Amino acid sequence: MKFLVINGVNLNLTGKREQGVYGKESLDDINKKIADYCAKNGDEVSFYQSNIEGEIVNKLHDAFLNKSCDAIILNAGAYTHYSYAIRDAIASIDIPVAEVHISNVHAREEFRNTSVLSSVCKGVVCGLGVGSYIGAIEGLKNR
Ligand code: DQA
Repeated sequence: MKFLVINGVNLNLTGKREQGVYGKESLDDINKKIADYCAKNGDEVSFYQSNIEGEIVNKLHDAFLNKSCDAIILNAGAYTHYSYAIRDAIASIDIPVAEVHISNVHAREEFRNTSVLSSVCKGVVCGLGVGSYIGAIEGLKNR
């Protein structure tokens, strides 16, 4: 399968910001682990990160219009909790999307308990660090 991993706002600082919450691995480290995992299983994967809501929307549209992947793993960062634009983009495309989070959003501040994306995603994996992304890939493969 061809996967696209999208990381949203502030995820570029992973490994540098709030290490107690998000760990010490950089986004490149995490992406390398995902890439190695996919290569081992004969899957293709590409990566995209943006801090800009509209760019994430454009990337979702692009994947749909150009049929560039079979499934998407999306960590939208804080946009998860309030971006109706990203929600509508997910609902607009016929590519399965899994929502992921490095941290356990349910064990943190109350505003993180709400996701406006979950209801249009195929599933949600959170709290497992890089394992959230890999768990989502496995789940999407097994659907
Ligand atoms: C996050 C959780 C969000 O609540 C937060 O705003 C992030 C990262 C995670 O991966 O745990 O930026 O999506």
